[in-house]
Amino acid sequence: MTPTFEKGGHIIYWGDALEVLKTEIDTESVDLIFVDPPYNIGKKFSDFHDKWSSDEDYAAWAYQWLDECVRVLKRTGTLYVMTSTQAMPYFDIFLRNKLSILSRIVWHYDSSGVQARRYYGSLYEPILHCVKDTKNYTFNTDEIKVEAKTGAQRNLIDYRKPDPAPYSTEKVPGNVWCFPRVRYRMDEYEEHPTQKPELLLERIIRASSNENDLVLDPFAGTFTTAAVAKKLNRRSTSIESQEKFIKIGLRRVLEMPCYNGEELRPPRKSCIRKNANGKRFKADGKGDLFDGVRGARVYQKDT
Ligand SMILES: C[S@@+](CC[C@H](N)C(=O)[O-])C[C@H]1O[C@@H](n2cnc3c(N)ncnc32)[C@H](O)[C@@H]1O
Repeated sequence: MTPTFEKGGHIIYWGDALEVLKTEIDTESVDLIFVDPPYNIGKKFSDFHDKWSSDEDYAAWAYQWLDECVRVLKRTGTLYVMTSTQAMPYFDIFLRNKLSILSRIVWHYDSSGVQARRYYGSLYEPILHCVKDTKNYTFNTDEIKVEAKTGAQRNLIDYRKPDPAPYSTEKVPGNVWCFPRVRYRMDEYEEHPTQKPELLLERIIRASSNENDLVLDPFAGTFTTAAVAKKLNRRSTSIESQEKFIKIGLRRVLEMPCYNGEELRPPRKSCIRKNANGKRFKADGKGDLFDGVRGARVYQKDT
């Protein structure tokens, strides 16, 4: 039996994604799936080392749970899947025969970390946006519109229309999304090597599901998907193999105060920071300085 935790429409399975998908999730039962698996790039996720012996071995593993995701997705459902830039071609070619790929999204982020010197450093992660039925799927354009720059900003009139009218001030975002990565000083920060930002999940969940819909995340990590689904009044099912991260989900999503006698607390953050010259100073949780030198450049730790 897979250890299972449940409260108020949110379910957490502690186990292997493929096993849990096969044994616990009904066929065509899920409205939206967001999959952010290990990328085969050697990260350490608690006791799990994210490295396969070859790209082909990694792809063969992924094809099994991708097939399961296709099985559990409703006919009207949507799947978003991420992986490394080098592995995404395998996923893309595999999935285009099973689902319709509507968008190939680039999540572009800032990076203050060390950059590559002899090649072009990676500043993005790819995301596939796929549906089962191109004639019947959820896409709530009004929920995700962003400011339209160009014509609207300059108060221009669009004369291409039969009746000339001001340019629209809002538009559906394009397929390049700019959201900052989760940084140490952000309120949402958890101790995990690849936490995804809430803003990214918010756009996906608002666009591709409705209230009370079921959102599935088979590789939950810090449970960003479920936390955002909960905020937006969706139901969620999450799977995670590492106990260390299960505890984050129990606190962040199910609001459990303790687990096995252990108090569940958000990460404790050090308030010792360094300025641009490497000098140490004390800061409060929001990055403001205690000593009154406000507005100084503050460096944040990359995750
Ligand atoms: C890329 S991270 C997901 C991060 C997540 N999206 C977030 O915002 O925190 C992948 C997660 O999958 C977990 N994992 C690795 N192998 C797994 C498996 N076979 N079944 C379930 N979870 C697994 C890892 O422990 C890790 O937390």
